[in-house]
Amino acid sequence: MVELRSVKKVYKDRTVLDVPQLRIQHGESVALTGANGSGKTTLLRILARLLRADSGTVTAPQDVLYLPQHPYAFRGTVLDNVLIGAKDRREQALALLETLELSALAAKPAQSLSGGELQKLALCRVLIRPCALLLLDEPTAALDTNGTRLVCDALARYKAQTDCTVVLSTHAPQFAAKAAERLIVLCDGRIESDGSI
Ligand SMILES: Nc1ncnc2c1ncn2[C@@H]1O[C@H](COP(=O)(O)OP(=O)(O)OP(=O)(O)O)[C@@H](O)[C@H]1O
Ligand SMILES: [Mg+2]
Repeated sequence: MVELRSVKKVYKDRTVLDVPQLRIQHGESVALTGANGSGKTTLLRILARLLRADSGTVTAPQDVLYLPQHPYAFRGTVLDNVLIGAKDRREQALALLETLELSALAAKPAQSLSGGELQKLALCRVLIRPCALLLLDEPTAALDTNGTRLVCDALARYKAQTDCTVVLSTHAPQFAAKAAERLIVLCDGRIESDGSI
């Protein structure tokens, strides 16, 4: 289970996140949305323990995977990138590349990919391993309609295999509705609404 109580994040004198209480049950898929600067990345980074809240308590599994908002590639081929930290999962890596229609690019230098291709590769690098809590920051921001559909398929498959909890952020209502069953709208760091989609 994920739980936040009285969590605040403050930069100088500006409160960018203020969550009195939030509970996410094991196995839930939750989409965070809200305007630029509303606190989505801040909340995800706090759940990933990459950022410390200034006050309050955060309960979340240790076994977390986090996809950052801005995808990047390491040196080496596309396949090398997926196998980073998962050397013994070659078969799964090839299957993931297939799912995200990247197979034809497997032997290409990862640093030559287009923005959308790179975003799908970054997702493969995360989905190659199981986890208890999957955190995805705008995983389809650079993707076209087909790419977004492929990500939905990959996520559904991953969830079926791992039974993990998912928290993702997005500006795309249709993606949120497909990938999650609950939508949390943030506004100036506060939860404006929270309900099933
Ligand atoms: N290191 C920092 N120092 C000062 N302010 C920060 C810092 N990091 C984030 N902020 C501010 O916190 C607010 C929330 O940022 P956050 O990245 O969580 O927004 P977001 O909802 O993810 O936005 P976007 O949709 O643009 O990705 C923003 O106003 C941002 O400028
Ligand atoms: Mg963000």
